Amino acid sequence: MSEFAVYPSLKGMPVVISGGASGIGEGVVRAFAAQGSKVGFVDIAEEAGRKLEAELNAAGATVKFARCDITDIAAYQSTIRDFEAAHGPALALVNNAANDLRHKWEEVTPEFWDQSIAVNAKHAFFAAQTVLPGMVAAKRGSIINFGSISWMILTGNLAAYTASKAAMHGLSRSLARDVGKHGIRVNTLVPGWIMTERQLTHWVDDTANRLIDEQQALAGRLYPADIARMALFLAADDSKMISAQDFVVDGGWAHG
Ligand SMILES: NC(=O)c1ccc[n+]([C@@H]2O[C@H](COP(=O)([O-])OP(=O)(O)OC[C@H]3O[C@@H](n4cnc5c(N)ncnc54)[C@H](O)[C@@H]3O)[C@@H](O)[C@H]2O)c1
Repeated sequence: MSEFAVYPSLKGMPVVISGGASGIGEGVVRAFAAQGSKVGFVDIAEEAGRKLEAELNAAGATVKFARCDITDIAAYQSTIRDFEAAHGPALALVNNAANDLRHKWEEVTPEFWDQSIAVNAKHAFFAAQTVLPGMVAAKRGSIINFGSISWMILTGNLAAYTASKAAMHGLSRSLARDVGKHGIRVNTLVPGWIMTERQLTHWVDDTANRLIDEQQALAGRLYPADIARMALFLAADDSKMISAQDFVVDGGWAHG
């Protein structure tokens, strides 16, 4: 028996999630599947995506995975339309996929910059553009754009990534103004340092652990499920009058 919330409004809701095969996105897919939502998720990690889809469907969930590179906008839009044909028009969109590849400012090329914007920002707008007509017709919907505390806390070696992540706030706020009159909400979910497999493998060493202990007000570590619970709330009717806001889930990281 779960000790966390079950949202009646999420049962049967068609939801689209990007980057759902691993990391936070996997946690988001699992969380919506557990609520009984109809989940369509994309990722380039085909094996992991298929495995997750099979595991959740075997447990009685309604989940569809498609291998899709979200930087190919035409392919991504067509995949979202396939999900909608199967599940019905999406009422929640979780723009989660990103790539936080470290980079030195001296070495950034125009091509790297464009690729970073493509994988971290561009797809979020075009996914929204794809699901919005269905949300307008339904007079409801929730779009959740993923930000990051990295730019707020002056993380270096990440300028192309943080520029994209900061852009999510502008995207959320302008789009919230455009679609609010249709009952559609657009918010930014801002994770702190989340203990995903990728973070644990690449970045969370003894120094990082000391930093987390110093900077986080709350003891302990954040995991994908902690972020997923905020995504559930933002998709559910429980947040139906909340739009154009930032939701920082970082264990109380010192931003000063
Ligand atoms: N983990 C953290 O500490 C942290 C902190 C702040 C913000 N975030 C944000 O949370 C979100 C998820 O981050 P994460 O840590 O789980 O990342 P991750 O790298 O662990 O997972 C990202 C997922 O997106 C997929 N993906 C990458 N490029 C893709 C592409 N071109 N097309 C389709 N799928 C693609 C990957 O295969 C992977 O499954 C991101 O928006 C990230 O900016 C994460």
